[in-house]
Amino acid sequence: MCGIVAYVGSREAAPLIVKGLKRLEYRGYDSSGIAVITDQALKVFKKKGKVKDLEVVLANQNNLGNIGIGHTRWATHGEPNDVNAHPHMSNSGRLAIIHNGIIENYASLKQMLLNKGYEFKSQTDTEVLVNFIEEIQKTKNCELPDAVRLALKDVVGAYAIVVLDKENPGQLVAARKGSPLVIGVGHEEYFFASDATPIIEYTKEVVYLDDLEIAIVNQDGLTIKNLQNEEQDPEIQTVELELEAIEKGGFDHFMLKEIFEQPKSIADCLRGRVNPDEAIIQLGGLRSHIGKLAKAKRIVFVACGTSWHAGLVGEYLFEELARINVEVEYASEFRYRNPIIKEGDFVIAISQSGETADTLAALEMAKSKGAVILGVCNVVGSSISRITEAGVYTHAGPEIGVASTKAFTAQVTVLTMMAIATAHAKGTLSDETYRQLLIEMAAIPEKVEKILEKSEEIKDISKLFTFASNFIFLGRGLNFPVALEGALKLKEISYIHAEGYPAAEMKHGPIALIDEDMPVVFIAIKDSSYEKVVSNIQEVKARKGRVIAIVSEGDRDVKSMVDFAIEVPKTHEVLQPLLTVIPLQLLSYYIAVLRGRNVDQPRNLAKSVTVE
Ligand code: F6R
Repeated sequence: MCGIVAYVGSREAAPLIVKGLKRLEYRGYDSSGIAVITDQALKVFKKKGKVKDLEVVLANQNNLGNIGIGHTRWATHGEPNDVNAHPHMSNSGRLAIIHNGIIENYASLKQMLLNKGYEFKSQTDTEVLVNFIEEIQKTKNCELPDAVRLALKDVVGAYAIVVLDKENPGQLVAARKGSPLVIGVGHEEYFFASDATPIIEYTKEVVYLDDLEIAIVNQDGLTIKNLQNEEQDPEIQTVELELEAIEKGGFDHFMLKEIFEQPKSIADCLRGRVNPDEAIIQLGGLRSHIGKLAKAKRIVFVACGTSWHAGLVGEYLFEELARINVEVEYASEFRYRNPIIKEGDFVIAISQSGETADTLAALEMAKSKGAVILGVCNVVGSSISRITEAGVYTHAGPEIGVASTKAFTAQVTVLTMMAIATAHAKGTLSDETYRQLLIEMAAIPEKVEKILEKSEEIKDISKLFTFASNFIFLGRGLNFPVALEGALKLKEISYIHAEGYPAAEMKHGPIALIDEDMPVVFIAIKDSSYEKVVSNIQEVKARKGRVIAIVSEGDRDVKSMVDFAIEVPKTHEVLQPLLTVIPLQLLSYYIAVLRGRNVDQPRNLAKSVTVE
């Protein structure tokens, strides 16, 4: 949430920063701004709206110098407007700051500063922070790095910040706690950003700043210190991310590109891990943990949103295949509930970004209570991947559309591999089923491809439901989480109210909603609950509901009773979610596009929720 970019070097800073902000716009897009030092003056340009609105403001500016900071905002304190947009300046006009996070004790700091005569233009916590730094700089008569360090000792909350000082036009001071910050190390130039995407065009060498560290970049190069003022050795890593992976590549939207990338992203996730010919499944990151997982009494998945839905699929998989007791928790509830965690419990975080504040905090809490903490993350080097004892990367590649698609199927792929490997180690899977599952897993990318070939058919169905006001999604067993995911996708990008339910629960309330205006999406594939789902379809049809069913290839029976049927190839029952979710992603996408929504940047949302 909120994207930050900063640059110092010999290039023109403003265009580079604006380009970087566009790459980070998925993190927030209600206003944006930059601050630069040019002709010894600190200048701030900011604008409500998208980064393209800021570009209009900057259109007539000539070279604005070689140092600057920029921000794209997802509002926390104060409504989205020009004044609340970042960067924020200190009262003297000497400092400018960009900030991703929340300063929780901003009210008391603000009162202290008001008492000293400071004035505030915005409603933000960030303007309080920059003035607090200025106050320390003045009263202690110290340089900016020390002022930042001392200020942060008194700050409660989460932050990734970069500060610019007019009196030091070759210096950037940055710090983080709880919000991500990557430093790009080029040849006599440095970049700061919330993730590596604004940086990789210029350098692949990066340093991931750790919590409670301060980075100072000036004529002496890069120095990293902790809050105790002790110097730390920067660990320079090479990012393996190519530019084309973060561009739209001819698709209308990132979301559509990411939906269509799924045959590849699932194949990438399986590569080197599943080998059906030799009947091998290996997860390098969990090599020494699978045996322990096999003996686990309890696994708790913690996650939010779509990743939580993947966790629900994981629950079914681990229970069914490995016979392990599993719980799936909303990270935000789990962290504040004083849950019972016993020594040896496994707590596994599932997170695309690896930065979700609640998931991170839930893990930290579980660790402090003695759990073994593992991670299933997409973003390499993310905070969750760094605090976990071990884990598995999903290798889905950068997901830029705010609505998660390929990250979900990659998470489910990883959880399936984990469950199969654990079950195999535990001996709860017959050799034959084990081999069969590996063969079927390897065939999933091709089957996803076959579903994607139906995109025009799904688009045609979408046209008939574009103006629906409500939707219900129903599924049973492993397809219940898929129903939840279908409903979430639709509501977040089309703003149509949608509910996901276990199909049998319909009779306990939601059936009252069914009439001829209510579209009901059933996942009705030929699995162990097929007959029961068919009965649920009959119940909806008897009440004149309009039914779209996701059915197994060749199923004429359900086809004959519903309004529309979308076929998916057959596979082993436990792998079905990887296929049944694809038509639901496409259905939501096309409905949202037909309604004229901004599918990549839906209102009020942002990717990577780094505030709780
Ligand atoms: C929905 C969506 C969100 C995320 C949730 C968790 O499409 O993307 O619900 O799944 O914010 O994010 P991560 O997986 O980054 O922890």
